[in-house]
Amino acid sequence: MCQDVFYRSYLTNYEMSHLFEMNDSINSDSSWTIQTAVWRDFAELNQLEKTCFSVGDHWPFWDLLGALALPGLVRLKAVASGKMVGFIGAERDALRRRGWVTTLAVLPAYQRQGIARALLTQCEVELGMPVVRLSVRASNAPAISLYQSAGYALVDQWKKYYVGGETALIFEKKLDLARNDGG
Ligand SMILES: CC(C)(COP(=O)(O)OP(=O)(O)OC[C@H]1O[C@@H](n2cnc3c(N)ncnc32)[C@H](O)[C@@H]1OP(=O)(O)O)[C@@H](O)C(=O)NCCC(=O)NCCS
Repeated sequence: MCQDVFYRSYLTNYEMSHLFEMNDSINSDSSWTIQTAVWRDFAELNQLEKTCFSVGDHWPFWDLLGALALPGLVRLKAVASGKMVGFIGAERDALRRRGWVTTLAVLPAYQRQGIARALLTQCEVELGMPVVRLSVRASNAPAISLYQSAGYALVDQWKKYYVGGETALIFEKKLDLARNDGG
């Protein structure tokens, strides 16, 4: 889990319709695809979170369900051989014109294939916000490396944010919406 979930319900109709119009995004060798996740993915998402995060960090039942079912959130899954192998969740803070990535995970057997990077890129497009933020444990070197290589910069630190007292690093990326068309 990257961050506590703050659900918001004041999205524009355009943002809502755009979210549900997304076609599957297919990687170059077609071994996995990126699709919009739905509530029926609950069991697989629950398993993915338990596999990828420590006990204190994976989301409880209601947060998982909310991530899959509440309106206006970005929810994308990576699918390989019919199975969910990665997931990213995000929300929009419409007042601040900012997106927040709330969770991102890829099953260990599918890591280092570019899946997280692809999920993050598609998520930024779906969010459609000029700024995207996320939080990460200060010790999570793989995720920090991913975010930095994807153009995120450290903007803040939240002391004792995570279970166990670890600091959260807050990363931010500024997006050129005119160019960020997924192409
Ligand atoms: C972090 C995580 C999502 C990365 O997923 P992934 O699909 O393996 O990432 P990608 O293959 O897209 O990697 C993109 C880049 O991230 C960095 N990266 C990813 N894993 C890394 C690792 N183990 N060590 C160092 N850098 C790493 C690299 O820069 C990599 O580019 P490269 O492969 O060209 O060197 C995955 O390791 C994971 O699920 N970890 C557990 C859950 C977690 O910590 N999520 C983040 C919470 S904030």
